[in-house]
Amino acid sequence: MNEELLQIAKATKGFMPDDEGMALYNYALDMLSMSRSPMIEIGSYCGKSSVYLGAAAKEQRSVLFSIDHHRGSEENQLGWEHHDPELYDPTTEKLETLPLFRKTITLAKLDESVIAVIGNSKTVSRYWNIPISLLFIDGGHSLFEAMGDYLGWSQFIQRDGLLLIHDVFEDESQGGRAPYEVFVAATSSKSFKEIDTVGSLKVLKKL
Ligand SMILES: C[S@@+](CC[C@H](N)C(=O)[O-])C[C@H]1O[C@@H](n2cnc3c(N)ncnc32)[C@H](O)[C@@H]1O
Repeated sequence: MNEELLQIAKATKGFMPDDEGMALYNYALDMLSMSRSPMIEIGSYCGKSSVYLGAAAKEQRSVLFSIDHHRGSEENQLGWEHHDPELYDPTTEKLETLPLFRKTITLAKLDESVIAVIGNSKTVSRYWNIPISLLFIDGGHSLFEAMGDYLGWSQFIQRDGLLLIHDVFEDESQGGRAPYEVFVAATSSKSFKEIDTVGSLKVLKKL
């Protein structure tokens, strides 16, 4: 991966360890060398994972649609475990990550490769109808949110396309179980097969 983009990804606020970020980049690059259909990311936050996926999109002349309402998940709100006071907007009493996301993407020179979609991921999925090469799920981590993203978006992944799920922990003491429940739903549906695990990132192929 381009060294400048790698340094930007590493310096960006977020929840993506370096090895998992590199796995996002490598799987996206590989996928887009076979199909240039767009990729979807759910959960942009400040753009950390978007830089890894966007770098691959730029190299392969495809695009990443990165979806987020930019108001933070439940666990990012005031008083919760993953709250960041620097991202808090006292006017709305919610998080506001859109300015930082836009800054990250512009600094990385990825404005033509990463398209911000601002809104509720499930609402957007109801109006979407384009086949996608790769879906990365890293939005809300409640069962309602995570399963809603899987049910709303996985139908658009083309054959041999990829589904990547972040924060998959079987053991509840390591993190919430919702992404794991999504992983179980996907593998038991017989529509997806697990092909790799990098940290908490599961990589599945659409059959
Ligand atoms: C864990 S963070 C994403 C981290 C990011 N991928 C990174 O690499 O740092 C989850 C994001 O999902 C967004 N989110 C949660 N529920 C959502 C929903 N229903 N629709 C759109 N975005 C949502 C939050 O605003 C938050 O920015």
